[in-house]
Parts: sequence; C-alpha cells; structure tokens
Amino acid sequence: MPNRRDFLKSAGALATTSIFGQSAAYASTARARAASVPGRAVVSLNKGWRFHEGDIAFPVIRGHGWTYANAKAGSASGAAAPGFDDSEWTNVVLPHDFASAQLPEQDANVSQGYRKRGIGWYRTLIRLDEADHGKHLELQLDGISTLATVWFNGTQVAHVWSGYNAVYIDLTPFATYGDALNSLAIRADANTMQGWWYEGAGIYRNTWLVKREQVHIVTDGVFAHPVFADGQWTIPLEVTLYNIRKGTQRVQVESVLVDADGKSVAAFTAPADVGVLAHQVVTGTLRVAAPRLWSLEERNLYSVRTRVLQDGKVLDEVTTRCGFRTQRFDPEQGFFLNDRHVKLQGVCIHQDHAGVGVAVPYGVLDYRMRRLKELGVNAIRCSHNAQDKRFYELCDELGFLVMDENRVFNPSPEHVDELTWLVRCHRNHPSIILWSVFNEEPIQGTEQGYEMVRRMVAAVHALDTSRPTTAAMNTGQFEPANAGQAVDVVGFNYQYQAYDGFHQAFPTVPMTSSEDTSAFQTRGEYVTVPEKHIFAGYDDDASSWGSTHRVGWQAVAERPFVAGAFVWTGFDYHGEPTPYEWPSNSSFFGIMDLCGFAKDAFWLHQAQWRKEPVLRLAPHWNWAGKEGQAITVMAFHNMDEVEVFLNGRSQGRQKGDIYAMNRWQVPYAPGTLAAVGYRGGKVVKRFEVETTGAPVTLKLTPDRAFLRGDGLDAQPIQVEALDAKGRHVPLAQHQVVFTVEGGDIIGLGNGDPNDTSSEKGNTRALFNGLAQVIVQTREGSAGRLRLGASAPGLKSAVLDVEVRAAQPWAYQATSEPVQGLDGWRSSPLSAAPVDPNVRPADTDMNSWGWVTPGTRARPAERTGYVLYATDAWAFARVRKHGGTLEFVEVTGPCQVFIDGKKAGEKTTAAPAPLRIPFPAGDTRFHLSVLCPVTAGQPHGLSGVVRLLSA
Ligand code: GAL
Repeated sequence: MPNRRDFLKSAGALATTSIFGQSAAYASTARARAASVPGRAVVSLNKGWRFHEGDIAFPVIRGHGWTYANAKAGSASGAAAPGFDDSEWTNVVLPHDFASAQLPEQDANVSQGYRKRGIGWYRTLIRLDEADHGKHLELQLDGISTLATVWFNGTQVAHVWSGYNAVYIDLTPFATYGDALNSLAIRADANTMQGWWYEGAGIYRNTWLVKREQVHIVTDGVFAHPVFADGQWTIPLEVTLYNIRKGTQRVQVESVLVDADGKSVAAFTAPADVGVLAHQVVTGTLRVAAPRLWSLEERNLYSVRTRVLQDGKVLDEVTTRCGFRTQRFDPEQGFFLNDRHVKLQGVCIHQDHAGVGVAVPYGVLDYRMRRLKELGVNAIRCSHNAQDKRFYELCDELGFLVMDENRVFNPSPEHVDELTWLVRCHRNHPSIILWSVFNEEPIQGTEQGYEMVRRMVAAVHALDTSRPTTAAMNTGQFEPANAGQAVDVVGFNYQYQAYDGFHQAFPTVPMTSSEDTSAFQTRGEYVTVPEKHIFAGYDDDASSWGSTHRVGWQAVAERPFVAGAFVWTGFDYHGEPTPYEWPSNSSFFGIMDLCGFAKDAFWLHQAQWRKEPVLRLAPHWNWAGKEGQAITVMAFHNMDEVEVFLNGRSQGRQKGDIYAMNRWQVPYAPGTLAAVGYRGGKVVKRFEVETTGAPVTLKLTPDRAFLRGDGLDAQPIQVEALDAKGRHVPLAQHQVVFTVEGGDIIGLGNGDPNDTSSEKGNTRALFNGLAQVIVQTREGSAGRLRLGASAPGLKSAVLDVEVRAAQPWAYQATSEPVQGLDGWRSSPLSAAPVDPNVRPADTDMNSWGWVTPGTRARPAERTGYVLYATDAWAFARVRKHGGTLEFVEVTGPCQVFIDGKKAGEKTTAAPAPLRIPFPAGDTRFHLSVLCPVTAGQPHGLSGVVRLLSA
C-alpha cells in the first residue's frame, strides 16, 4: 500500500491533518438494516447457530484409508466435519458470551471475574441460493473470544489469533449452492487469555456474510481521509479492487463526496484494469473548497460514495464516512484539533457491561457512550484492544477523540497483520487521533522493545501517516534504548511524578498520560472497610502505582505539555478486582460502576471536566443512629466558593479548591443537607440532599422512551426504591424479582463488585439503592414491552416501554440440522452386479473413485454395474426414531441397500428423487447403491443424499 502523505513534523511537534471515510462497520450495520446496494448484499449471520459448551475431542485417526482421507480438503473430522451430528445442541443467536451466564466460582480465574470460560463449538448450515452462484462470498467475524478455528465445508479456512479483531474469510471457492448445504463450524477457545481482565467466551460480536460482484471493492478497501495542506483540503483516495473473474477487467472507479444535505461537493473518476485474482489499488484526489469541519462540538460528517462501473452497470458501491479536521501534538502545549487546543479529558475502557458480559447490544453500547458524554469525557482509550466497529461510529457521531490500541505486542508477521487490520479498518474515523502499539510491556525499556516497536510503527505509517503512534509505557522512558524512542507521542502509564523530568530531558517530544489514577471506589459507600472489600467515595483510596482521581487530574491539568489524561477506568469491568480477590469479582476502578451508575468520582470529574457549574455533595443523608456524630461532607464542584447548610444552618463557607475539592465535618441530624456554589461572589448553583423515609415502593426508569422491535434493540432499565415522598432511598438492598412481557431480560446487574449472584435470570438485589435490568425486544414485535418488579414489603412497579415496529436486519438463510451423507466411493465398472457389501480395500486410493453427490451424472463408458458406497452413523434423532433416506436426485435406475439388505429401488432412467424409510437403530450403517449402467447413458448420484429425521 503506498504511503499517501508526508508525516508533517516540525521542530519535534507532530502536525497532522486528517480525515476520512468509510466505516466498514457503518456500512455493515446500516446496510444490514437497509436495502442492499447494487452489486453487494450484507446479510447478518447471527441466527441459526447451534452451540455446544465444552470441547469435543477429534476422533483418533486409524487405518490408511481414513488417514489418507483425513489429509484432504473438505475432510475435517469430529465436530468440524460437515456431517457431524449437532442436532441436539442448543440453538443460540449471536452475539453470544457463554462465560457471562456462569456464576462466579472461587476456583476460576480471578482476573476473568471468576467466570469459567473454556471451549465452545458453534455450527450452522448455510443455504446459498443458486442466485448467489457466481458472487464473491466473504464471511466476516467481528469478534470471537479468544482464539478460534473456522471450518467451512470441512476445510479449515482460518485460525483467528486475536480475541478482539475482525477477520474476513473468502468462502467463494468452497461454497455450494441449492440443496447442498454449507457447513460452518467454529471452535472458540476461551481457555486462552490475551488479557488480565474479563474477556468473555465465544462469538461475542456480529457475524456477516457479504455477497459481492466478482469485481468489487475489498473490505476496508476505501481510504478517504481528508488532508489539509498548503491552504487546501483534499481527500487523497485509495480504492482497492479485487477480481475473481477469469479475465482482466476494465472498470471505471467513481468517487463522489456528499455532504450532510446529500449534495455532491467533489468527484473523481478513473479507469482501472483489474488483473485475474489480483488486487488493484486506484488512487486519486477529491478537492474540497470550504468543508464544514468535524469537531467535538460539531460532528460534521461527509460521505464518499465509491462505485465500480462496467459498461454503465454498477458492479459495486461502498459508502465511506469521513470528517475534515486537523490534529497536532505539540511538545509544549499538548493537543490541537483544528488548531484549537483541547486538553484530553480521557478515560480508559474495557468493553463488557453488567449482565451481558462482552456481548453488548448496540443499545447498551449507546447508553455507555452517552454516560461518558454526561461525565464530560472528550477522549477514550481503547484499552487494550480493538472495540466493536459500532463503537468508532459512535465516537464520530457523539464527538470523542480516540486512542485506538493494538492488543498483542509482536512484530512477527501474523501479529503485524492484526495491527495493520486495526489501522486499515479504523483509519477513516475522524475520531481517531492516536495509534497505540502496546500497553505496559516488560521489555519496553530495552533495545528489543525499541526494535520491536520500530517495526510496528513502520507498519502503521505505511497505512496512515496522518496520525501519530504511541505506546502506553509504565516504565522505561529514561532508558538509553526504549520503545518510547520509536513512537511519535510518548505515553505515560502512571508515573506522574516523572512528567516534569521527562519533559526537561526531552523537551521536543510530545507526551500524554496514556493511563492514570487507578483509584478505588464502591458506589454509595462512605466508609472504607477492608475486611468487607468496600471503598468509600471520598477519593482517598488509590493503588500504590496510581493516585487518587484528584491528584491524577491535577498533575495533568497543571502541565500544558501533558496532552491529557486517560483515567483508569470509565466503567468498572468484570475481573481484576484489585486489590482484593474472592468474593470480589469486578473492578473497583470505575468512575461509574458496572451498570454505568455514577460513583462519586463521576461528580468529581464532571466538576473538573465540564465548563458549566457543577456542584454535588457526598454522602447521602441517611445516617440514623449517628445523630450528633461528625459526618464528612465533600463537595465536588467547579466553584470559587461553596457554603454548606444543614437544615438551614451554615456549616461554613469555604474558598473552592477545584483540585482537592472541599470538605466539612457536619454533626449528623436528619433533614436537608444543602450546598450553595458561588462564582465571582454570585450564587450559580445549588444542591440538596434529604434524609429519606423507609422505602415503600419500587420504581423503574427506562434509558430511552422506546425500543425498536427488531429483536436486536436493548436498553438498561434502572431499578430503585422510593420512600413515601417519592425520594430515592440510597440504602435499599431489597431482592427484586422481575417479570417481562413482549421482550426478554438478557442481563441483570447492580454494580456491587462483591455480589456473586447470577447476572442472568429474573432476580437481583438492589445494591445501595440501585439495580439494572437489560431488556431486549423480539424480532417482529410492536406495541409495548412490559417490565414488572416486585420485592417483599414494597409496592411493585410496572414499566411499559413502547416497542416500534422496525425492519429487522437481513439474515442469511440457514437450515435446521440435516445429515448430509458424503464420503462416497464408486466401484470400477463391472460386467456382473457388484456385491453391495464390498468396500474398497483400506489401501485403495485409486481403483475406486471418489464421488461428491450433487455433481453432474456422466455417461457410462460400457454397459455393466457400478456400486456407490459409503458408511455413516445416523444422527441421534434418526437412531432413536428412524427417518427417511433421501436421494434428492438419482440418474438412471438403482437399488439401494442398507447394511447389505435391499431397502428400495428406482427403475426409471430419467433423473428423479428417491425416498426410502430408514430404520431406527444404534449402529454405524453401510449404505450401497447399485446402478445398472448402459453405455452412453448417464447415471449416478446427481443430487445430494441426506438422512432426515422422522
Ligand atoms: C495497569 C494496566 C491496566 C490495569 C491497571 C490497574 O497497569 O495497564 O490494564 O491492569 O493497571 O491498575
């Protein structure tokens, strides 16, 4: 791939201009919902899967015949074999995280949230229409935890080495059409770990089948990232074409830049000759006079519509979103977007959520992103891996700056492929400002670390020169040879005490915190109790390597040369319950808990990061039994002065400290605790918290007023208890039972890191006043989804959420389990009838032929007899209840023998189906078809052969 742009560096500063184009994800998700475009269809493959939790050993191969066959294409054995019996497996719909259904168990891995993971098998049968014949077929797997092997029609087509990247697999050469179903088998190995946090298990993101014209644009094949240079905006275009036709193709490539109003504002067209089975990169330029810039405030997005035409016919079309903006990291002043300074107010995130593990529905992802917006976040670090494709679209749409991060630190070819996939797939997103090649590698401060990074950085810049690279280093920046010397912006994990020393030693090197803080809080708690694994919300508890939230931000905020902060973490996540272990099973680091409910750190950072007045007090004011005792009251604010009142009596007016925040010792009395915030001597904000009565009723609050009835849309519903005056009761811990109509509960949570109860089912306890239920619609539904909640001693709550009829995604047709019978051999043509019990010798690879039913019947060379033979185990259902042996088409007459006994026959010569009752029975059976053949007349198994259950 040619290097498109110069990496603009001046006086050590990295001046970059950026842009871009198509989100492959946008294309796939939007397109799967909407109509397909000319030349291509993107269909979801999320339905029609059968799942087995646990591994299935491959059979031991013995005997020469089997060993020989085993070595051939299409001959995978065991659960990878097309004919494997999965008819009694569980039906599942993807995305699917099978670890999320596990209860935490003390002997499981603490880092993975004490969830057993293991190995799981997924199988489906894909039915491809004759109309698909002649198309290019690509399987896209957006994310599997953790490693995976993929077989299509018995041929191993991919090893997936990343638990976080998508893989694209060309199925075209292996595919069959019509009655011959296509077997897809995936073994997901979640025993392997790529992280030290909860990674889930199974096919946890979307899967797609992309059907394209034989001459088409490859996946992630449009690079259209705007550049500003010499006073002119341009989009240097790269379009990568592929051709599986049998001759070189002359096509026309046409790209049109379309603004938000649908107006074409620039166009490019060029001819291209695409060689046979060859990639062809077409380059060009779109010139744009005065585009509306993409910024955090105004997310102006453009579309580049790229078409491939031949003789006036559209062969393929791809829409690529892009945004016009410049970016620059300055070693003295930090980060600039469109030449305006932006301090990065960032968080690190993992991808899981309460109740659903890593299989996070887009509705819940959307909720999480909006929560980050409310917090005042303007930057997100994808620690420590690629996120779902939809995440990057949301960053473009909502206005976040993204540090995208590669998972495996390894410049060897397979792993560099993972890094280059990351860049190629995401480089059109205007939100992305940094490529991070690693996080905290022990060899970061060595020559090896430097050499490894040098190669990875080169691989990134070969694909994108517009954004700098970084590495998140927790030591090593001062070593004579270290990884930081090979990147463009040096990332500091923690070590805030070293910011000044580094800047003095390397004043021309841009730097940012890549990770900071790692402080501990438990939502709704105000006394730290180590023996109960509880942390208070006053921001006094932090890891030894990190800092409190306040210290972490102050260190960044006061240093213009530190581009910004990335707080560990925005949300709690399953696993890594540092500094504790069992029963703690999720983290304590989050600014929000596992459900996205605010901890006190939320108000603290909101005060630090948002410009408008913020004022909030901790704690709640329900301290029955502590009357007269001093309670620490803390104000989170961005005020010049704050005054606190208890029941109208001032507890003191303090000069506001926007870094350390302010505290009062207030002798407890029930009533109203209030705060008044001043700026320039004027009251600009008030806050009040009241002592509540006992809880009397439950309340359910939706995140959004409606859901789409497409079977995909989901949202979190907040559950809480109220007192008689309708006030939220912060200490309610009731066990709540839920009912649902018109949809499903797919997960439960409450944000308590020490709760080991199930996140699935219909009951969850409130934790310090809150719990969360995640509901999902059913496909084809409309009307309402009704959630009910009840708890002993409380009035029940019922919530109706409107369900709007919505177009479901387009899904690939799949099939119920059908046992296709394969492995057929054909005897040499014999003058006399062949004994149906005869089989080729185990060493005979050649005198008996190899037959694939469903291929064209051929004329016999002589008159005589041919025996077709195979051996198989019937599927369990047929063994139990019997079934039907179906020859979809046989050409010529034949007699069928099951275990040597004649079971049926066809007397006519013309091609016709043949159906024969198949007996119940628990043994391997021999199947033989004896065909009397006539010289010159066609004969044979011209249709597929299958065994149907009764
Ligand atoms: C960092 C690491 C994170 C997380 C964090 C906890 O060292 O990069 O993944 O483990 O520590 O403090």
